[in-house]
Amino acid sequence: MKNSISWLRVVTLFFSVFALMEFFIDSGAKPAFIEYPLASLFLLLILLVLIGVELILASVENVLFQTLTEPAKERYLANKSKSWEWKWAIETYQNLLGSKPMEEEGEITLDHNYDGIRELDNKLPPWWVYMFYATIIFAVAYLVRFEIMNDYDQDLEYEQEVAAAQLEIEAYKKTAKGLVDVNTVTLLTDASDLKAGKTIFETNCVACHMADGGGGIGPNLTDSNWILGGGIKNVFSTVSEGGRDGKGMVAWKQILKPAEMAQVSSYILIEINGKTPTKAKAAEGEIWIDPNPTEKEIPAIEKDSTTLATDLTTAALN
Ligand code: HEC
Repeated sequence: MKNSISWLRVVTLFFSVFALMEFFIDSGAKPAFIEYPLASLFLLLILLVLIGVELILASVENVLFQTLTEPAKERYLANKSKSWEWKWAIETYQNLLGSKPMEEEGEITLDHNYDGIRELDNKLPPWWVYMFYATIIFAVAYLVRFEIMNDYDQDLEYEQEVAAAQLEIEAYKKTAKGLVDVNTVTLLTDASDLKAGKTIFETNCVACHMADGGGGIGPNLTDSNWILGGGIKNVFSTVSEGGRDGKGMVAWKQILKPAEMAQVSSYILIEINGKTPTKAKAAEGEIWIDPNPTEKEIPAIEKDSTTLATDLTTAALN
């Protein structure tokens, strides 16, 4: 009796479990069975159990088979060889090919006979014919949608994708603070950022600038005079690139991450600048005026309704 372990069944079940496991276990970039050794162990166990079950089934079948009478054994074997498993698949395949079995070819032989080479009048294979119909339907739908209704074209598709990507980049930049550089840095106002900035300042900067920013070896950071320019972009650039040669302020980009430099710069501008230190070093540099003040810093120009009305009339007349 043929060995009836269904290896196909074992392999299919095993890979189903494997796929389910990879799908449900969140293991980051690595596959779960590498990330978690326990998962590999579990898979091994599953494999052993599956093989075990097949072995048991096979021996049960064998034992039962031995208990049968001779004619029953024969009937059983005859039934078994008529394996149903692939029958439907083979039938479907045959139907799709639409070709006549070799024995019936006589029915479709044409009269042509070229030195013994004969011609069969086979039907077109149904798979081919159906695909051809499908292309016709597709072509009609395509023609109506894109040539008659002018749904969208490649240019529009391109623009939409670029716009979507732009949005994604913006969103990414917002979350990835580590990406800031002197062009993209903005004043951070979150309490957490300022707190981090304070820690960085106290660790690295107080030796020369004093805890309250009054100044020592380094200049006073509390006044509105700046040697190297005020505002977040200049301060960030000074912290990142250092001061003028030989003055003692190093380029902190060697030591601090961009995000940290943004935090400490914001801390200086928000928490230190404008406060009165216990011992203030004399102001150095120029009073700095922001060339591009942000909107809320522009003093609101108040107009009463009469001037507004005059403005509108003038505008209308022009
Ligand atoms: C070794 C002393 C020293 C340390 C430490 C130091 N600085 Fe300075 N800092 C200076 C000096 C000196 C200058 C003036 C540079 C110049 O004149 O070009 C300066 C200038 C500056 C300026 C520009 C001030 C202006 O008026 O334009 C900023 C902002 C600044 N430091 C921030 C920091 C920060 C933030 C840290 C800590 C991460 C730090 N400094 C650490 C010595 C120091």
